[in-house]
Amino acid sequence: MSVLPLALTVLLLLFLSNAAASSIQMPQLENRIVGGVDATILHHKHQISLRRKTCKECAYLHHCGGNILNEDTILTAAHCVGERDVGDFTVIAGTETRTGSEGLVARIDHIVVHEHYNASTTDYDVALLFLATPLLFDNVRIAAVSLVTTAPAVGAPATVTGWGTLSEGGVQAQQLQAVNVFVLDRSMCTAAYGGRFTAAMLCAGLPAGGKDACQRDSGGPLLVANQLAGIISWGVGCARAGNPGVYVNVAHVRTWITETVAANSLYDKDVCTLSIKDFSHLIAYHASLSVALGFIGGAETSITAHPYVVSLQTANGTHICGGALIKKQIVVTTAQCFVFYDPKQIFVRVGNNNYVSDGELIPIDAYRINENFDFTTMDSDVAVVKLAKSVKNSRLTREIKMLVSLDLSYGLVEVPC
Ligand SMILES: *[C@@H]1O[C@H](CO)[C@@H](O)[C@H](O)[C@H]1NC(C)=O
Ligand SMILES: *[C@@H]1O[C@H](CO)[C@@H](O)[C@H](O)[C@H]1NC(C)=O
Repeated sequence: MSVLPLALTVLLLLFLSNAAASSIQMPQLENRIVGGVDATILHHKHQISLRRKTCKECAYLHHCGGNILNEDTILTAAHCVGERDVGDFTVIAGTETRTGSEGLVARIDHIVVHEHYNASTTDYDVALLFLATPLLFDNVRIAAVSLVTTAPAVGAPATVTGWGTLSEGGVQAQQLQAVNVFVLDRSMCTAAYGGRFTAAMLCAGLPAGGKDACQRDSGGPLLVANQLAGIISWGVGCARAGNPGVYVNVAHVRTWITETVAANSLYDKDVCTLSIKDFSHLIAYHASLSVALGFIGGAETSITAHPYVVSLQTANGTHICGGALIKKQIVVTTAQCFVFYDPKQIFVRVGNNNYVSDGELIPIDAYRINENFDFTTMDSDVAVVKLAKSVKNSRLTREIKMLVSLDLSYGLVEVPC
């Protein structure tokens, strides 16, 4: 087994001199597959690589693992993100190689670290990354993982994956690795780590060692029956007998995860009010919206590149206007669409490349034209439409993210929620 890196040795010594009387042991914070096999992303669609740059001009390098909870949210370890800036990170989904350029890249909008996270004890080592641009699920290489509702049984077989080091202090894996371990009895973990092993943790491994997570696997998954039961967190060394790997106990922090996701999701907020300002942001931020709003000088494109684009049309297939899906049941479009047609005759076709022959035709439940709309000047030319049913996110349909603010000076368009 190789020698511990120098920085780690120094930390270890410091820690021991501060807490010589305590039974608490030193964690490896920049953590942590040893004894694994090559894995394919097709079997681990929820696994992401969190890449980080350490200087302004530096490249983003693999830093930690993470887990896709939904199109907008990644679950990882708090110690992977610490107090660092969101701009230091990118999330790569749908790839099985550590340094490859394939996969889908997403930037982070903001990070929420568990309020009980303690960097010195690694307790509550859990954080949520809310993405600035959603991941488009293909359900082949990119998909969400579900969380366990109860802690896994002692002895349950578990799988751990990551691109971390292949041995303690060794080189990082290029191909995603997977290793099978067992959930261990809590008393074994306490025997190994004393009071440092808390209710927010679980431990897994083999009593004889030899298989474990290691440096730079942190934040990645421990799966039990294909559900996320743990988040790779810390250990003493890697794969040592008597020093099992320690994971965030997902069942223990599940309520925090679901509540934090709900509180931070732009899509799930019950906002059915839209300001013109938001609309201009929408246009500025997504110039491609011109595709939806009557484009000039464009090129043929595909709905998978613009899955938020919809067509307002009559039942017999006369295209009236474009629109953009901003929530699962809400479309924003121009007010002028409603000038020449009885709204009862207007349907919304979603998920279509051809304006009339594919996708799904959905009736309109309600609509609202901006009060300040003036047909002669085309001022405030905006309307919001509520569909008769929600659209499911897919490769062909999904919402476009919009900044929601209720600045009254810009005038509001409201639709019934
Ligand atoms: C972290 O835990 C240590 C040891 O229990 C404690 O002394 C310290 O105050 C905690 N830090 C925070 C920020 O809670
Ligand atoms: C399609 O329907 C619209 C309104 O329902 C009508 O004005 C138009 O003439 C129809 N077009 C054709 C080709 O039938």
